[in-house]
Amino acid sequence: MSGIYRADLLAGKNAFLAGATSGINLAIARRFAELGAKVFIISRSQDKIDAAVAALGGDAAGQVADVRDYEAVENAVAACEAAHGPIDIVVSGAAGNFLAPAAELSSKGFRTVIDIDLVGSFNVLRAAYPHLRRPGAAALTISALQSFMPARQQVHACAAKAGIDQMMRCLALEWGPQGIRVNSIAPGPIGDTEGMARLTPTPEAQERLTATIPLRRYGESSDIADLAVYLCSEAGRNVTGALMVSDGGQTVGGSAIEMGQ
Ligand code: NAP
Ligand code: COA
Repeated sequence: MSGIYRADLLAGKNAFLAGATSGINLAIARRFAELGAKVFIISRSQDKIDAAVAALGGDAAGQVADVRDYEAVENAVAACEAAHGPIDIVVSGAAGNFLAPAAELSSKGFRTVIDIDLVGSFNVLRAAYPHLRRPGAAALTISALQSFMPARQQVHACAAKAGIDQMMRCLALEWGPQGIRVNSIAPGPIGDTEGMARLTPTPEAQERLTATIPLRRYGESSDIADLAVYLCSEAGRNVTGALMVSDGGQTVGGSAIEMGQ
């Protein structure tokens, strides 16, 4: 527990999180649960759901659903409401990524990442919409620096994340009058994740990347979990349509993202 927030800050809140069986999204689910929320998680693997639910403990529950499959997501959101009641917080963080030069990336490879990240995020927020408590619900998408900084070998992720953030702003406009807030977090490189290990597989690559970060540190998944609590709790009550960047200052000077390759 970080101790930054009051221990019962999210008591009575019901959170649905997509892609929360590992990495950043699992860290968000863990922090929400520590602060008293009931969490319901989805991902593609029953084994990963079982392990994450056991690790989260308490009232945590979960169900297999691929975010590309709207019906499966709808079923999972309905199961979440049946288990825990109306949804106060929805987090859409499932993603797929790999390094591939644009000239070597197949159309299917490009579409796969768009389907998981962008269409999947729409599916999660759209399916959750009828179940959201209003006024008062908060929705959060998980973006990346690729949303606004072009990056080599990342045409698919850059396009998908830019789409997510513009979608987030549109939903903030349309759903704001009902008291539903919609925001996005763009994490910089997060050291304690497999996603990061995939993009910077060698110590040399990691060293080169660290040298481009003003704070000279990789972020940690707990940095993003604490920011998610801010955005999804009463603390963020007047914040909607915002893209919150947590990157150690990597993009503050406008330098290109380098994955260390
Ligand atoms: P991760 O550990 O690879 O976790 C990805 C999660 O999404 C897993 O729970 C995975 O579980 C699930 N998932 C993948 N495809 C799915 C699908 N089609 N349907 C449902 N669930 C799916 O990822 P991470 O590195 O923590 O990244 C989490 C988020 O942060 C992503 O949106 C990523 O783009 C963003 N981000 C990460 C970094 C970083 O440095 N790690 C930096 C910037 C942004 P299953 O395999 O069981 O489906
Ligand atoms: N380079 C180029 N193309 C690649 C690739 C790579 N490293 N990995 C996958 N692709 C292409 C495949 O070749 C395929 O296209 P093709 O049939 O034209 O060759 C297409 O992407 C779909 O691949 P497939 O493996 O069938 O997709 P999937 O749905 O099983 O898996 C991925 C999706 C590829 C994104 C997979 O990496 C994944 O499941 N990732 C989830 C975890 C993750 O990436 N986390 C990081 C979050 S930032």
